[in-house]
Amino acid sequence: MKIFTSFILFGIIGTCFGAGGAVSGQGGSGGRLEEKHVTYTGNHFVAEGGKFSVTCIVDINDFHHWTFNNKPVVPGEAGYTMIEGPGRQGYIMSRLTVVRAHPFHAGEYKCTTQSNEAHSVFVISGSLTETEETRLLAEGRPLMLTCDYNTTNTDTVWIKDGDEVVESNRIKLFKNSTLYIPAATKQDLGEYHCSLPDEQEPKVFNVVELILHKLLPKSTTVLENDKLSLTCLVQGDPLPTVQWLKNGEPIEKSINSSRLVLSENEYHVPNASLLIKPLMKNDDGDYICLITQFAIQHNTTTDVRVKDIYAALWPFLGIVAEVVLLCTIIFIYERRRIKPNFDESDSEQTNEQ
Ligand SMILES: *[C@@H]1O[C@H](CO)[C@@H](O)[C@H](O)[C@H]1NC(C)=O
Ligand SMILES: *[C@@H]1O[C@H](CO)[C@@H](O)[C@H](O)[C@H]1NC(C)=O
Ligand SMILES: *[C@@H]1O[C@H](CO)[C@@H](O)[C@H](O)[C@H]1NC(C)=O
Ligand SMILES: *[C@@H]1O[C@H](CO)[C@@H](O)[C@H](O)[C@H]1NC(C)=O
Ligand SMILES: *[C@@H]1O[C@H](CO)[C@@H](O)[C@H](O)[C@H]1NC(C)=O
Repeated sequence: MKIFTSFILFGIIGTCFGAGGAVSGQGGSGGRLEEKHVTYTGNHFVAEGGKFSVTCIVDINDFHHWTFNNKPVVPGEAGYTMIEGPGRQGYIMSRLTVVRAHPFHAGEYKCTTQSNEAHSVFVISGSLTETEETRLLAEGRPLMLTCDYNTTNTDTVWIKDGDEVVESNRIKLFKNSTLYIPAATKQDLGEYHCSLPDEQEPKVFNVVELILHKLLPKSTTVLENDKLSLTCLVQGDPLPTVQWLKNGEPIEKSINSSRLVLSENEYHVPNASLLIKPLMKNDDGDYICLITQFAIQHNTTTDVRVKDIYAALWPFLGIVAEVVLLCTIIFIYERRRIKPNFDESDSEQTNEQ
């Protein structure tokens, strides 16, 4: 009984000290490390299966090894390769590369323990898929638009945003009604129409940029009366539309407008950030961010759980009550046990004198 209680008490005390130690530790190192310089460059976002690399330039004395989420990275394992070279005087350059990114590669990369700075990598797995008529621009990658798959030897007229496309060293027009750009750039974004001599209806292609940087978390827990803030980290050119749904219904239908604020996200996509304040018990449910860019539709969902304040407090109160109860029991028990001893020692002391 006593051992058990001490265990709990030590646990609680230990937790308090542990938390205190962590806080002071962080504060202390923050100040000391400010003068250390480390520079990270490289991708922050990579599609699943894509390639990414992180380069670090750091004082040669400060370079230790690469860590990922504070665990050492072993080159040759988990798809990591590493190259190292001298940087400018006294500096070393090290590059970590992964050719095929998996979701488990997402996290914080560091090449030195002398700085708190880290390079975060996100692996986007809810990959957006293009359609025949809405094409995703991948910079530096080929872009091929085919007007009619059965055409083999015809001149096709291509119009981009109202102007006729002329062949150049960047853009090829093939006789099989295909427009081909070996290495696409942002200037290739736009609306393309193609028409063949024997067809009335021109075919329309939209070449767009659309990136979903991060999926919503699987679940989100918020206290009742607190606020719920969700952001759909989508980027696009032209700007995509975002509609929030709650349990499949447009959000405006289930949340009173006096509590709902929709605003643009950091990529200026309208309505991509949602704020509900204050949150009520029946606001829980599946919150879906529905993204539309021409023919592309994509969505990401989070399960919002609303906890009432007392529900959050009960386990804590329970522990407090348990500790108080156990302490009382021990106190009474010890007092009963010590009392006779006390008398004994008292008499012993008297004897010695
Ligand atoms: C194009 O060719 C496919 C077979 O390759 C055929 O099924 C289709 O009907 C053809 N379309 C036209 C418009 O000729
Ligand atoms: C059209 O021709 C080009 C060049 O010959 C070829 O690369 C491309 O695959 C062809 N496209 C189709 C749809 O046949
Ligand atoms: C929304 O809230 C306002 C006051 O805050 C109230 O007058 C209105 O009836 C509410 N609307 C709905 C649909 O609950
Ligand atoms: C944003 O949402 C509001 C209603 O919630 C809607 O009226 C407006 O059209 C939306 N804006 C865009 C750009 O989709
Ligand atoms: C969300 O995406 C999934 C998978 O792509 C699809 O099955 C589901 O119907 C979509 N939901 C909505 C509301 O569009």
